[in-house]
Amino acid sequence: MDVALADRLLTTTRSVRKRLDHRRPVEPALVERSIEVALQAPTGSNSQGWHFVVVTDADKRAGLAALYRRAWELYASGKLPARAELPPDDPRAKQLPRIIDSASYLAEHLHEVPVHVIACIEGRVENAGPLAQASTYGSILPAVWSLMLALRARGLGSAWTTLHILFEQEAAALLGIPSTVTQAALLPVAHYTGADFKPAKRLPAREQTHWNAWGKRR
Ligand SMILES: Cc1cc2nc3c(=O)[nH]c(=O)nc-3n(C[C@H](O)[C@H](O)[C@H](O)COP(=O)(O)O)c2cc1C
Repeated sequence: MDVALADRLLTTTRSVRKRLDHRRPVEPALVERSIEVALQAPTGSNSQGWHFVVVTDADKRAGLAALYRRAWELYASGKLPARAELPPDDPRAKQLPRIIDSASYLAEHLHEVPVHVIACIEGRVENAGPLAQASTYGSILPAVWSLMLALRARGLGSAWTTLHILFEQEAAALLGIPSTVTQAALLPVAHYTGADFKPAKRLPAREQTHWNAWGKRR
């Protein structure tokens, strides 16, 4: 195992929004191979109830982008629950204006991104308890992250998005997704432009790690 290469892929796979190349076509085989790699991810009880809806049809991408934009506008105008205010010296507060600018760009241009991938999992858990929720989402989200990594290794950028899920059933109707299936994320996918990516500033691992009891550091 080339640890340096693995760490580079894991630490520099970013949410790509402004650097998605809308004009360059994406070879379907690259997406298919990336999905094959992603399906090596774990699933609860080896259930493998995952599905990836790959959308290249321009009208359908426009339909999804319209739903996404509606949700973005609600989010941007503060009509969706947002997270608590952060102190100005918090690294997340410093990153926020750049993320908002980038996310706003994606909301305006999503229809132009050549491939949308919606990751789905069989089952519904909105009325289920924490174990069923953790098992269901936990059986698709590792594959979604693997997909982003596999795409990135092939020169394709993507961004993890969830906003369209505010209108999940409208997206389901557009794509014929059964009502028994849960949508977990939408990845816009395209070749990326420009140079390579850098690791992001994150909260220090030491502060987020608890040894043997909550709040205990090593
Ligand atoms: C569960 C989840 C939901 C997200 N939803 C959205 C979204 O709807 N739109 C968006 O632009 N980014 C979304 N993101 C991406 C985050 O904004 C992004 O990961 C964060 O800004 C950090 O940037 P990085 O991924 O480049 O490190 C989501 C990420 C996660 C994990």
